[in-house]
Amino acid sequence: KKELLWQSRFSEPFDREALFFSSSVDVDRELYQEDIKGSIAHVTMLSDEAIIPVEEARLIIEGLEEIEQEISTGALEPHWEDEDIHTVIENRLKEKIGPIAGKIHSGRSRNDQVATDTRLYLKKTIGEMRQALRELRTLLADKAERYRETIIFGYTHLQRAQPISAGHYYLAYFSMFERDAERLQDLMARVNISPLGAAAFAGSTLPLNVERSAELLDFGTVFSNSIDAVSDRDIIIEFISACSIIMMHLSRFAEDLILWSSYEFDYLNLSDAFATGSSIMPQKKNADIAELVRGKTGRVYGALINLLVIMKGLPLSYNRDMQEDKPPLFDAAKTTLSSVRIFTRMLCKTELKTERLNTLTSRDLSLATEIAEYLVRKGMPFRDAHRVTGRIVTHSIETGTALPDIELESFRTFSELFDEQIYAALTPQASINSKQTHGSTAMASVEAQIRAARERLEAEKS
Ligand code: ARG
Repeated sequence: KKELLWQSRFSEPFDREALFFSSSVDVDRELYQEDIKGSIAHVTMLSDEAIIPVEEARLIIEGLEEIEQEISTGALEPHWEDEDIHTVIENRLKEKIGPIAGKIHSGRSRNDQVATDTRLYLKKTIGEMRQALRELRTLLADKAERYRETIIFGYTHLQRAQPISAGHYYLAYFSMFERDAERLQDLMARVNISPLGAAAFAGSTLPLNVERSAELLDFGTVFSNSIDAVSDRDIIIEFISACSIIMMHLSRFAEDLILWSSYEFDYLNLSDAFATGSSIMPQKKNADIAELVRGKTGRVYGALINLLVIMKGLPLSYNRDMQEDKPPLFDAAKTTLSSVRIFTRMLCKTELKTERLNTLTSRDLSLATEIAEYLVRKGMPFRDAHRVTGRIVTHSIETGTALPDIELESFRTFSELFDEQIYAALTPQASINSKQTHGSTAMASVEAQIRAARERLEAEKS
């Protein structure tokens, strides 16, 4: 039976159920690489500072490298009885090199150790997430280019509002995911700080060189207060909130895809590769992947609330409650990363029904704004133009005549200002291209937005 790290002052063994209850190995084994990396840096620093002999440091480091191999190949299966991944590794090291293994923990506590592991994990994960977001944004720029001339309905209140370029629509999501990537990058400034050397929370009696271990771990800088270094989890909360915002954006996008692929909308074709059928209704093609992305959003929000609640009443500094930070962290990170990736794969295979959309938009009441703006150009005050156009819309509905099919004489019964030119204005293309303002849906503006988007993607690579 292996000894727990802290048992010497106790006369009774730890209750087995209590050990099972408190063990975090099944969760924090996720951190074994970060933990070993952190230990190697710590031991290297200890030997550089002559706190432990170089030869012993070498033995410890070799042992740790072997253990990393053992865990990654499955030769060593971390066991719950070892309490946490830090202990799994230290116990294994003891088996390999004997009592020298104990020197690994000189000037260190599991408190700064786990804080270090978590920050290393966050750095790695933020990098992966930014990469996944970059791929999604590259796809959105491609979609915008491909569907620039496809005209779709722009909605407000889920009512058809005005025709827009589909490219413009995709670029709206490009902007959202761009901010998401920036948010993660901003967060890096606060993540990239080494807590190693804070020890339990008050610092160490050993002459630790905290800059050196930070540098070995590629951290930008070191903690400024050892209590804060081990006891805050705000960067995890910030990370999960960035994940929550990404999921919120994906979920809205998923909602559009679900609606638009329905029979009632029928604007797009989901690939069979990302749809499912029904076991009872043979005609069904369901957007399950989009629905799952939407559904998993709730899970990530849950993780955010989970950790906020864990932290809200904790006295300084470390409390064991904080071990519960890892399930929501890992779950939010994995859920968000896999959602971004699967969404990108699915979106890549999604096709807009360009011909149908172009036809639908060309006969629709959403051209009404063009009539009002036409009258404004002819000198009518906008409020009057709005009223006149409203009457024309009623006429169109009552007589079942699409706006472009209304005869000029009919138009003129509503206002003398109408002439032949109204028909040129009453096309979705004219509607779109009549927009003159920055960032609008006009083709020239959409093209400029695509160019700018590509430039920003390019600039990010360097
Ligand atoms: N497994 C613990 C965690 O994740 C490590 C720190 C344990 N420290 C302690 N003082 N019990 O938080």
